[in-house]
Amino acid sequence: MIVLGIESSAHTFGVGIVDKGKVLSNEKIMYPINTSGIIPAKAAEFHSGNAAKVIKNALSSAGISIDDVEGVAYTAGPGIGPCLQVGQLSAKAIAQELGIKIAQVNHCVAHIEIARILSGIDDPLVLYVSGGNSQILELANKPFPHYSVLGETFDIGIGNMLDSFARALGLNPAWGSSIERTAEKGSYIKMPYTVKGMDFSFTGLLTNCIKLIGKESKENICFSMQENAYAMLCEATERALFLTGKKELLISGGVAQSNRLKEMLKCISMDHGIKMGYVQNEFNADNGAMIAMVGERMIQNGKYSSISDCKIDQKYRTDKAEVCR
Ligand code: FE2
Repeated sequence: MIVLGIESSAHTFGVGIVDKGKVLSNEKIMYPINTSGIIPAKAAEFHSGNAAKVIKNALSSAGISIDDVEGVAYTAGPGIGPCLQVGQLSAKAIAQELGIKIAQVNHCVAHIEIARILSGIDDPLVLYVSGGNSQILELANKPFPHYSVLGETFDIGIGNMLDSFARALGLNPAWGSSIERTAEKGSYIKMPYTVKGMDFSFTGLLTNCIKLIGKESKENICFSMQENAYAMLCEATERALFLTGKKELLISGGVAQSNRLKEMLKCISMDHGIKMGYVQNEFNADNGAMIAMVGERMIQNGKYSSISDCKIDQKYRTDKAEVCR
């Protein structure tokens, strides 16, 4: 079934097309982030100004026409309200015009599922790390199939911490990768480390790093921030692996692009004989293909919506979304 998926929860307006789980195209455009971060109204304006072009590019890369599309899906949440609205309205217009089914997809589930499906992992412990979220999850079947949260951040997502600090340092573009590059020449200095069971916190670490700007080299701060933050995630993940007895570990989300985090998790996986899965960066960053992939499964399982029931939920939690396999 050919499904077109639209992702617009934050800075990215992405459109992906899948057919029977195979990605036919994955096009996107990104709102340029400077030191002021994402301004919701401006980002939404950017998305609506580019929506038609990105949809057209995705159809052309897939080698199909709009009339070939058999289902449409969009990110219903979590995310920035005005940005989510643009994706929702675009999807509704396509569904209405073509008379096809429409699915409301949870952004976090989409990140997890595309990584799980493309890396050939079946029943993993999941470390989901992105700008807005940082969670450790496993699939639970009651009262409905969903990703149950075993541990999560008490405050901000790890990606938010990395981006906030990159902006505080004036690094441009303000992405976690600029922290990773700066960290390459750094040495370790003592930093706050907060793990409670399988939960963790990043605001103390961020505040400490911001206070050190001008007093320590940026290389040392970036290196130490990164080492502590990733070690916190690894400690909580390792504990969850022992508690659940899972034999597979999946890492997904925007921060799963970090080579250092993957390197640390690979050590844990090798130590304990656990299979580790992740996907290439294109599918870890926000993208439309992940929405299309989950949307196709939802529609095939009868989990589609009427156009009038389609909504957005800025705080749509991972564990509130039904997972269709
Ligand atoms: Fe994301």
